[in-house]
Amino acid sequence: MIRAAIVGATGIVGQQFLVALKGHPWIEVKALAASERSAGKSYRQAITDQSSGAFRWFCDEPPVEEVMDMPVVNASELSTDGIDVVFSAIDSGPAKLLEPKFAAEVPVVSTASAFRYEDDVPILIPGVNPDHARLLEIQRRRRGWKGFVTPDPNCTTIGLAITLKPLLDSFGLNSVIMTSMQAMSGAGRSPGVIGLDILDNVIPFIPGEEEKVQHETQKILGTIEGDGIRPAPFTVSCTCTRVCVLEGHTESVFASTQKPCDVDSIVKAMREHDGGLAGAGLPSAPKNLILVNEDPFRPQPRLDRNNDGGMATTVGRVRKDEAMDNGIKYVLVSHNTKMGAARGAILTAEMLINDGYISG
Ligand SMILES: NC(=O)c1ccc[n+]([C@@H]2O[C@H](COP(=O)([O-])OP(=O)(O)OC[C@H]3O[C@@H](n4cnc5c(N)ncnc54)[C@H](OP(=O)(O)O)[C@@H]3O)[C@@H](O)[C@H]2O)c1
Repeated sequence: MIRAAIVGATGIVGQQFLVALKGHPWIEVKALAASERSAGKSYRQAITDQSSGAFRWFCDEPPVEEVMDMPVVNASELSTDGIDVVFSAIDSGPAKLLEPKFAAEVPVVSTASAFRYEDDVPILIPGVNPDHARLLEIQRRRRGWKGFVTPDPNCTTIGLAITLKPLLDSFGLNSVIMTSMQAMSGAGRSPGVIGLDILDNVIPFIPGEEEKVQHETQKILGTIEGDGIRPAPFTVSCTCTRVCVLEGHTESVFASTQKPCDVDSIVKAMREHDGGLAGAGLPSAPKNLILVNEDPFRPQPRLDRNNDGGMATTVGRVRKDEAMDNGIKYVLVSHNTKMGAARGAILTAEMLINDGYISG
């Protein structure tokens, strides 16, 4: 078994890690870490509000009893002895300081953005760009680390990159325009989104999000050249908004393709796209990376976010678009705290275990 530490174990994404790793056939949770606030407490005490007694468990699934009596350590004091991989679910500020410390000794699979934009750091999505894992060797060598940092994409980028991949491979892309309607849980618990601000409302700005999605999409769909990645040459423009939905990001996508294409060939390319996942036997892999629903009222976050355990991206409303050259448009729903965070990071770790980058 691969022995894992969860850093940020008390947050939304940290708890999703605990749920997803319960009974995992390859990976077991051996250590929990969070901020100074939680350090020295049992996990149960750390997520129980001392003044009100409220039990701050955020997942739909029941609390993971196996970890309730485990101690939570201060992340800055976490020892990697006896640990084979660190899953990091903390904000990018502390991640910038802590992840290199862990990576000096062991691989770190992160949901934070701290290292996503560095030249020797890939942003991996199994089934989309597994070849980018080669950069991990370069990263190790350059930085003199025994491990590495591999961050997952932003939760808004992941569904977009997954659905663009078959279009890029089959038809080429000139440009992409995307408007997101992002779930509240995407903002985390601290600082989170205030209920009074979001109820009956749409917030038209999420600081830094549009730049992240634009940059990451081009990097993920780019090609390995020498010791780095050449970004995909098509342009990406987005508007990212926050809506009153708990889980599941919805995105409206317009794309201009290089070769002409019709709705049927787009649907076929999306349905058939597997990126080598089917035969790999990774425990968290969805049966289909992309599900296409032809009901014009789908996808909807409430109905489609949990498709295939929250690991499938659901697409609908595939249409031609007359405002662009070779224009097409569609709507997607992707689960922001499952494929877009913890379970997605576990899937990446499974691929890296399979390929020998992480071992016990
Ligand atoms: N929510 C999403 O949909 C989503 C999706 C993809 C990626 N992400 C990324 O995942 C990360 C975690 O997000 P989240 O939504 O789970 O946030 P969250 O609910 O606010 O949880 C934050 C976690 O980080 C810990 N923490 C805070 N300051 C720390 C410090 N200085 N040192 C060590 N640990 C510290 C907290 O511990 P205490 O409980 O002790 O304070 C808590 O465990 C972020 O980088 C976020 O951008 C989130």
